[in-house]
Amino acid sequence: MITATLHFQIHISSIIALQMFLLKTWRSTAFGVYGYLNFTKTGFLEHSKHFKPEDMQTRIEGKNCVVTGANSGIGYATAEGLASRGANVYMVCRNKERGEAALSKIRSTTGNQNVHLEVCDLSSVSEVKSFASKFASKEVPVHLLVNNAGLLENKRITTSEGFELTFAVNVLGTFAITESMVPLLEKAAPDARVITVSSGGMYTAPLSTDLQFSDEKFDGVEQYARNKRIQVALTEKWAEIYKDRGISFYSMHPGWAETPGVAKSLPSFSKSFSGKLRTSEQGADTVIWLALQPKEKLVSGEFYFDRAQAPKHLKFAATSGSHALIDSIISNLHAMSTLSS
Ligand SMILES: NC(=O)c1ccc[n+]([C@@H]2O[C@H](COP(=O)([O-])OP(=O)(O)OC[C@H]3O[C@@H](n4cnc5c(N)ncnc54)[C@H](OP(=O)(O)O)[C@@H]3O)[C@@H](O)[C@H]2O)c1
Repeated sequence: MITATLHFQIHISSIIALQMFLLKTWRSTAFGVYGYLNFTKTGFLEHSKHFKPEDMQTRIEGKNCVVTGANSGIGYATAEGLASRGANVYMVCRNKERGEAALSKIRSTTGNQNVHLEVCDLSSVSEVKSFASKFASKEVPVHLLVNNAGLLENKRITTSEGFELTFAVNVLGTFAITESMVPLLEKAAPDARVITVSSGGMYTAPLSTDLQFSDEKFDGVEQYARNKRIQVALTEKWAEIYKDRGISFYSMHPGWAETPGVAKSLPSFSKSFSGKLRTSEQGADTVIWLALQPKEKLVSGEFYFDRAQAPKHLKFAATSGSHALIDSIISNLHAMSTLSS
């Protein structure tokens, strides 16, 4: 009897393991095919045939825009694109020298002197909080917050506050800066916006409550996908929470762009797609587009790609049900942010 039960249990667990294996394989394959057809430079050029040039001609003089990770890649292109349209841009960078170099380049290419540097390491909740309270003393309304800073780290690294590094930057830092900025965003109501630069990589991952990848076999690519899925689910939830407070939330995918981050974290991908990846400007295109469109044209809480609303889940990937976990993840993030203050 005991042997039969044991056999039955082993049988069930092998079926579950096989199901999980097939599901993961399906998610990666579907993502790979969808990505190859849409996320490269060719995809951008194809989609851009439907773009309307007038969508990008709006001036945003006097609008205060905060862009994280603005010294490099997509963040730099975003800060430059906003500055060239007259915005007051606050570049949040972790490294003073790299930030200053980017700042003076943007001032000189755009001729806009209302571009400023704020130094803050987003992997530290206490730094984010002290940055936010210092920034609040300026008493400026924040019309736009672009949560762009992000990274994919292949090794498991723990921050001085005890968090897994990619989670600390991509999720906890993004969460902490957004929540800390709410009072300033409210000052810009009814049209304050938060745009979070997620990734198509999130298609391969459901939401997981294992925020810090406790599995001993750390997989940076999988952790990155999980982080980016959380950003999409957070955006959805924030839109609901703040819907009556004049703040809209959007997440987006830049496509596959050739940036220092991609070259460093995904060297083989970067090499095999050499010449096929988007420029940083093409990656930032939808961020700028989301910043410029009339609010009525956009749907708060949604995910965007190449100037259009995009699905949050791939067909048969079984990721949508997992979004029900977001409330418990948010409670956890609140607790972590409080502990680190
Ligand atoms: N490129 C793509 O194909 C692609 C695709 C999907 C999504 N994305 C997303 O796009 C965003 C920008 O990435 P990218 O490709 O432009 O890479 P990137 O060139 O490496 O830019 C990332 C930016 O984030 C900053 N950053 C990293 N850790 C930080 C921290 N602890 N505190 C403050 N800033 C920090 C970096 O600063 P340092 O220069 O000091 O490191 C840099 O300015 C990321 O969220 C990424 O996940 C990119």
